[in-house]
Formats: sequence, C-alpha cells, structure tokens
Amino acid sequence: MEKIKLLDKRFKLFIREDEITKQIEELAQTISSDLKNESVFFMGILNGAFMFASDLLKRIDLECRITFLKLASYEGTSSTGNVKRLIGINEDIKGHTVVIIEDIVDTGITLEHIVKQLKGYEPKEIKVATMFFKPDAYKGDIKVDYVGMEIPNDFIVGYGLDYDGYGRNLKDLYVLDK
Ligand code: IMP
Ligand code: MG
Repeated sequence: MEKIKLLDKRFKLFIREDEITKQIEELAQTISSDLKNESVFFMGILNGAFMFASDLLKRIDLECRITFLKLASYEGTSSTGNVKRLIGINEDIKGHTVVIIEDIVDTGITLEHIVKQLKGYEPKEIKVATMFFKPDAYKGDIKVDYVGMEIPNDFIVGYGLDYDGYGRNLKDLYVLDK
C-alpha cells in the first residue's frame, strides 16, 4: 500500500518494514555487545514501543529482563496538566542497567519525564534506545544512546506509532501526505 487514509488524514509510504528490520539487526548487535557485562532491564514504553520492542528484543543476545511501562496523566488536582506519571515498575532495578525502549523521540519532553522518574529507583545506569529520532525537533539534553533511524520533523504513523489511536498495526512507516 503506497497511500493510506486514517480518520481525516492521508499518509504515504515512507520507510518499508525490511529497511526498519535491517537497522534493528544492527542496533541489537551493538546493544548486545555494549552491555554484555551488565545486568540489563529493558523497559518498553507503551503503547507505541510494542512493535519495536518485540523486533529488537528477539535479536538481543543477552541474559536480561524485560518489562513494559506506561505514562499516565496525573488525575485530579495537578495544575500542570501535561506532567505524566510512570506506571508499572514493580521490579527492583536498583543497581541494574536500564535500557528505555521508545518508538520515537521527538522534542524529548516525554523522555525527560521517564528518565527523571526512573532515576528515583536508583538504577546503575539509564540508556535510551529509540527506533525513530527527529534531530530537528529534539530539545533535550539527555543522550539518546541507540537510534534506529533519524527522520525529518514530519508526522509519521505505523510501526507502533499512531494518529489518534489508529495506525499502530501498520508494519511499514507512513508520513503525512501534505
Ligand atoms: P516528545 O515528548 O515530543 O519527544 O514526543 C514523544 C511522543 O509523542 C512519542 O512517544 C509519540 O507518542 C508522540 N509522537 C511524536 N512524534 C510523533 C509522530 O510523528 N507520529 C506519532 N506520534 C508521535
Ligand atoms: Mg510513545
């Protein structure tokens, strides 16, 4: 499918699954060799990272643990409406190496929330792996250690990423057709 429509928007094919897979294979090798002496906890961020996490982790050659986290909006009285609480950390990660698995890092605000909260659990080190990275949009100062692909500052869907909840199941990546 070269062109698709989701709700009111049209998208065109941008990056095919086989190209994504090729990058993931390289990434998995790098991560496996970098972290071979560490006790690693992979933490996939839901919902978007489910597809990347699955494709990456089955190629990771490490004795490791895997869990998934979600960012939830604070309920009730918080005045800053966009502060998100990280939920799902049940394991004791103190002293272990954590690798955050994200679908995309855009401005980096989400990543900042995640890292800040994870630090409270006193891991040995926090590494970041993202499938897609928008360098032109990134405003953060957290180092993004492992990047699958750098992409321009355009809106994309597919491969876990959504437009208003739709499009996550698409195996290829699509870009907004302007
Ligand atoms: P950030 O906080 O600006 O880095 O944005 C991160 C979050 O925004 C991601 O986890 C995605 O959920 C969403 N996002 C950013 N860019 C895109 C995009 O191009 N398509 C779909 N979702 C996106
Ligand atoms: Mg996300």
